[in-house]
Amino acid sequence: MIDFDQQKKMMIEGCAATRLAAGYGTPLYVYSSAQLKANCSIYAGLQAPFPVSTHYAVKANPNLTLLENIKAAGLGFDVVSGGELERCLRIGAEPKTIVYSGVGKTEAELVRAMDSGLGCINIESAGECERITHLAQQRQHPVRLAIRVNPDIAVDSHPYIATALASSKFGVPLDQALRLAKLIAAAPNCNLVGLGCHLGSMLEDLAPLVAACRQLVALATRIAPHSALEHLSLGGGLAVRYKNENQPLPQDLVDSCTPMLKDTGLSLLLEPGRSIIASAGLLLTRVEHCKTGAKHNFAIVDAAMNDLLRPALYDAWHEIVAAQPSQAPLEKWDVVGPVCESGDFIGKDRELAIAAGDVLAVCTTGAYGASMASNYNCRPHAAAVLVQGASAKSIAMRQTDAQMLAAELEVIDSSFAPI
Ligand code: LLP
Repeated sequence: MIDFDQQKKMMIEGCAATRLAAGYGTPLYVYSSAQLKANCSIYAGLQAPFPVSTHYAVKANPNLTLLENIKAAGLGFDVVSGGELERCLRIGAEPKTIVYSGVGKTEAELVRAMDSGLGCINIESAGECERITHLAQQRQHPVRLAIRVNPDIAVDSHPYIATALASSKFGVPLDQALRLAKLIAAAPNCNLVGLGCHLGSMLEDLAPLVAACRQLVALATRIAPHSALEHLSLGGGLAVRYKNENQPLPQDLVDSCTPMLKDTGLSLLLEPGRSIIASAGLLLTRVEHCKTGAKHNFAIVDAAMNDLLRPALYDAWHEIVAAQPSQAPLEKWDVVGPVCESGDFIGKDRELAIAAGDVLAVCTTGAYGASMASNYNCRPHAAAVLVQGASAKSIAMRQTDAQMLAAELEVIDSSFAPI
């Protein structure tokens, strides 16, 4: 997504990173239209002898303008909360292109989802099955349901983002799925249309996904006498390259599953988040101070763990690149934010030629960057821009102090009331 011009200035498409930083302020999330389009078209162009549809996992980045672009590229959406659903509906996504997962959907969220006519609501437990069948009974129209199973497959990624082990909270254990399918088949207004799973995130190897596909096909055969299944979903999870990770190709995944799926009459759903948006975004931050400590050099920047949590939470590595040429010597720096925690770092031990005032780009932060931001230390959400060629447009304003204070100021003079 980045390039350097002849003066060694960082360019994002046709826009100089330093100009974006000066014009919109830092910290600033910058997204590339061209990279996003290229990533989407890989999924939109998947070839198979059965229908394949891609539903972008909104959790990776729910920015409305980015969602509009993703919709325009022909993708549907995967949501996990009422808030994500509202965003998709707000940009005019066709409800039938939206699938809804999550272990703890509230009644209000389910009612909204059912009344919107979503592509499917994924059931994640026996308790949720009961809640959904009960709510469906009170509706005028049938609801489309799928069972998300937990296939108990280990994947080689950070334990926080491995989601299909028997020990994880997600999905219905395989041996309960047939019983739930029969319950759904007997329930009024309930159509079981799919089976799905999501193994985890940052999967560098396709083998676990292929194994999961095999399990889903076998289960579909057992459920077929009870329900007219339409699809299998393999969730998301394909890794991207932050440093030197293997980046599996979506078409290779489809090709590996084709022999199993081609005679089933079922379509294939994919729910990628990271592989759509990670490489299309970066975070620009300005160096406030270069501080020489007793043991480390610290580049104190104006972005922090509230803007980009991944390094603090998963010890994640993001490349950090200086956006301008520099006379400064190459030195090792711990790039850290201003938040009052030692876990507040963006990258450690990075060789950079920098001075105070310089702009740095934290790369491949389009996914799970802005979407995991918080107001910790009462720091505002960063601004965001979308770049297209030599132009840029604002797609999220920097949060103001007034906005951060509003919810509390509104009730600051309220009095205690008996409850
Ligand atoms: N579908 C379901 C049901 C999911 O739970 C997820 C991600 C996805 C799809 C999309 O997975 P992807 O293609 O993005 O890997 N915050 C973590 C990642 C958490 C992923 C949670 N679920 C990170 O920053 O690495």
